[in-house]
Amino acid sequence: MIWMHAIIVFLCLCSIHTAFGQDCPSRQEMQSSLKQVQKLVSAHEAAYLQSLRTLRKKLNLLQSTAAKANNGTCLKLDAPANSRKLGRAQTPGHEVHFICDPGYELVGAESRVCLESLTWSGQQPTCRDINECASSPCLNGGTCVDEVNRFSCMCPKGWAGATCQSPVPTAFVTMTNTSAALSAPSVTLGSFVRPSRCTQVQGTTHCTCDPGYTISGRDSTTCIDIDECELFHMGQAGRLCLHSCVNTPGGYRCSCPSGYNVTRDGRNCKDIDECATRLTNCTRDQMCINTYGGFQCVRVDCPRIRNATYSQTSPLRCERNPCSVDNKLCPQAPNSISHHYLSVVSNLSAPRTMFRVSALRPMGDTLRFSLLSRGQARRHFIVQRSDRQTGQLVLVRPVQGPAVLEAEVEMSELDKRVLLARYITKVTMFISQYEF
Ligand SMILES: *[C@@H]1O[C@H](CO)[C@@H](O)[C@H](O)[C@H]1NC(C)=O
Ligand SMILES: *[C@@H]1O[C@H](CO)[C@@H](O)[C@H](O)[C@H]1NC(C)=O
Ligand SMILES: *[C@@H]1O[C@H](CO)[C@@H](O)[C@H](O)[C@H]1NC(C)=O
Ligand SMILES: *[C@@H]1O[C@H](CO)[C@@H](O)[C@H](O)[C@H]1NC(C)=O
Ligand SMILES: *[C@@H]1O[C@H](CO)[C@@H](O)[C@H](O)[C@H]1NC(C)=O
Ligand SMILES: *[C@@H]1O[C@H](CO)[C@@H](O)[C@H](O)[C@H]1NC(C)=O
Repeated sequence: MIWMHAIIVFLCLCSIHTAFGQDCPSRQEMQSSLKQVQKLVSAHEAAYLQSLRTLRKKLNLLQSTAAKANNGTCLKLDAPANSRKLGRAQTPGHEVHFICDPGYELVGAESRVCLESLTWSGQQPTCRDINECASSPCLNGGTCVDEVNRFSCMCPKGWAGATCQSPVPTAFVTMTNTSAALSAPSVTLGSFVRPSRCTQVQGTTHCTCDPGYTISGRDSTTCIDIDECELFHMGQAGRLCLHSCVNTPGGYRCSCPSGYNVTRDGRNCKDIDECATRLTNCTRDQMCINTYGGFQCVRVDCPRIRNATYSQTSPLRCERNPCSVDNKLCPQAPNSISHHYLSVVSNLSAPRTMFRVSALRPMGDTLRFSLLSRGQARRHFIVQRSDRQTGQLVLVRPVQGPAVLEAEVEMSELDKRVLLARYITKVTMFISQYEF
């Protein structure tokens, strides 16, 4: 490259000039020399830019040639550490996305595009461990230790708990005599306080506690119970117990509201079927309906109306007796009234089909389904057709328990617009107090 050569030569001339220590040139000579140099520099500058452009063109040409040899795809891109890559296409125009694992945050571009030049746009991002300590979660002067996806607090003396939120009662911390700790507090504080076991290793004391206990903070000779209920209340792992947690010395247990038993895993609550366990006092003409958290004794009574008479044909169903010929009103009365009892939990999500009514052998040309209930039931239910012969009762808005909702669904059969028969279905829903 000629221009580069020229500059080097020029610089050499200069240095020779000074090296020989000749007299300073006159002012005019200087100015004319400077002008010449300026011209020379401008010329070189232009030439330099021109050759840069040529170089770039050549580079692009090379890249696209290489790309063709490379099957028309960008090089495989790996996901940064602690992340996932979405998208596998490596052809121009496609892009890949990066999602960091929980506990990490993305630094850099969230996506990269395979360009026409078969290189990826931008720079490879990285996933950085989120500093959970950034929000200063430890209270009362606790020291936060950042861990992947979580943090822990090192509490100063006198404080305990996940975020050092619980003061350690001073009654505990004044006891320095291990044998005193063994006997004295057992009277007043039960077994929530225990002595620690200490060993001397090369002049330093190491104290440990039984499982479920921790060093009391100020005093390494005393262990205090860990309140697991408090500790896990705000934990990310979810609540320890479905209903409520009871702290016990060295542990905890879950408890459930009455009508429920703690499940085998000790965390959840399951409904007790009072009807099955004969815990009920329902009379012989009543039916026992198990509900979540309790039971109901129900009795089906057939309607007593002047227009028609009914017989109970099954525990939950009344049918109209045949109408006498001269009774014009009797055929308008419902042909049957069926009762159904549903036990549901509070705040059941909606919409949800609760019940279906269907005609086994339709007689007429039309079936109609409608909701007869007024008031409360109208706010929570609608009746709609699910197929030609079936209507369904749909819960459209969650109900908060404890509550009892009654919905009356009518199915009528018509032929050439003349009413043939009416069937009433009474659905009673017992809604529990709890969502389990
Ligand atoms: C080129 O792509 C085809 C399919 O797209 C593949 O079967 C082949 O192995 C690729 N060749 C190279 C050299 O990557
Ligand atoms: C510790 O308590 C025991 C029993 O209460 C007592 O005999 C002993 O003197 C105490 N030791 C100290 C150092 O207070
Ligand atoms: C509920 O749990 C208690 C204690 O485990 C047990 O005695 C009782 O039989 C259980 N009741 C039912 C209905 O399972
Ligand atoms: C069953 O007993 C409870 C009280 O133990 C009472 O409130 C309820 O009315 C009784 N039910 C029947 C059907 O007698
Ligand atoms: C019984 O007849 C009366 C009129 O006498 C009518 O208003 C009422 O709706 C009828 N009842 C039924 C259940 O059809
Ligand atoms: C009902 O459930 C929804 C979600 O299913 C929940 O957001 C809401 O807090 C619940 N309401 C009550 C009163 O528990």
